[in-house]
Amino acid sequence: MKIIISDKDLYKTGAFINGDWVNSDDRSTYSVNNPATGEIIAEVANCGFDETTRAINAAKSAGVEWIKLSVKERASILRKWFELMLDAQEDLAQILTAEQGKPLAEARGEIAYGASFIEWFAEEGKRVYGDIIPPPANDKRVVVIKQPVGVVACITPWNFPNAMLTRKIAPALAAGCTVVCKPANATPLSALAITELASRAGVPRGVINIISGKTSEIGRALTSNPIVRKLTFTGSTPVGKKLTADCANTMKRTSMELGGNAPFIVFDDADLDAAVAGAMICKFRNVGQTCVCANRILVQESIFDEFSARFKRATEALIVGNGVDDGVTIGPLITKKAADDVMAFIDDAVSKGAKVITGGKSSSQGECFIEPTILSSVTEDMRVFQEEIFGPVAPLFSFETEEEAIKMANDTEYGLACYFYSRDIGRIWRVAEGLEYGIVGINEGIISNEMAPFGGVKESGQGREGSKYGLDDYLEIKYLCMGGLET
Ligand code: SIN
Repeated sequence: MKIIISDKDLYKTGAFINGDWVNSDDRSTYSVNNPATGEIIAEVANCGFDETTRAINAAKSAGVEWIKLSVKERASILRKWFELMLDAQEDLAQILTAEQGKPLAEARGEIAYGASFIEWFAEEGKRVYGDIIPPPANDKRVVVIKQPVGVVACITPWNFPNAMLTRKIAPALAAGCTVVCKPANATPLSALAITELASRAGVPRGVINIISGKTSEIGRALTSNPIVRKLTFTGSTPVGKKLTADCANTMKRTSMELGGNAPFIVFDDADLDAAVAGAMICKFRNVGQTCVCANRILVQESIFDEFSARFKRATEALIVGNGVDDGVTIGPLITKKAADDVMAFIDDAVSKGAKVITGGKSSSQGECFIEPTILSSVTEDMRVFQEEIFGPVAPLFSFETEEEAIKMANDTEYGLACYFYSRDIGRIWRVAEGLEYGIVGINEGIISNEMAPFGGVKESGQGREGSKYGLDDYLEIKYLCMGGLET
């Protein structure tokens, strides 16, 4: 094992089916690499259709008992899991940085963020209220109850291997559902480690199952099996569309948290220091590999030069390197291919006339590293305007009027997060209401937390995660019509 952790039992490489750590049926494995060094840090069970089907059956059987627990019993198991995760924060952060690359400080933050969903939904599960509706006739009563949807498939990405999973498993379990999860093959170790903690916390056998390996076989098993009643996915828009289509045949519920193309607008009345600080965290968190990262920075013309000078100074102070090293603020991209894809965005922009203000090259740190980059003289025909960059590249666009900024911001098929900086209260309301996005950060570059609804509109998906709304996606509404009553 090449990861330094104190609790060695958190390093798991099997699949977790019905409470047992198992090999794949054919005993094949796939390799997990550290993107900062390229070294292989694990060989993980390479599962496929049959193992997934067994996991689905296990989740179905386990659901029978799980739902019989009272909400308080389920809450106390979840609470215990939350506490164990925080106790293991350092080990979990080391595992996360080793497989994903983000700096340790960010990894520790992600563990706390991931755990917060478990704490939150442990409590929210106690508040699954129904309704009593005035009846149409006096001998009737109309009652609404909410029940778990059943077995849930959770497919999660590599950019937040801990938090994107807990954001799905915690509400599912709190609602009384059971889960079969497919973490990204690039980063399964975080998922496996927190599953070990869930088991120690008392989550019964079969309630959480984790499978990774042959992605298309696992996907086919999850989308075609009628036992699975819901699929929740975080990842790219093309994959989300395919999964949604594949789920249609069995009419599964779906929640899709997909790509973004976030505008970050700086108006001339903004507090510029705050705007630069917000742009830094919003653009460069996780090396720009988040779907809510600032993708297009739109700056009002009169403050463009000043903003761009300050933003350049802050960007040049970032330190690129291996996330386990002290002081590093920018880690590697997840793979060489991801780094090449980001370089292709820069090349496209430069070939069409963009100017590199800073960065613009691969970094000497290794094949997955790219220098934090700022581009100016960018135009709407460039890929950096139209597509999700998913890397440390900040294109600066200028605009003249508020109307123009809103129009540019909305000129995309995506609608996940957007941001703007202004101190004019009238403008704040106008712009917030005019932006076609699910999340609006106003004078704020970090919008994610467990208490607020996270999700997008348009081709960024549907459904909300976190918050009091996050449970709805795991509950069915049942209407009880009670007739023949004495009046
Ligand atoms: C994501 O990139 O998918 C989620 C980021 C977040 O939760 O802040």
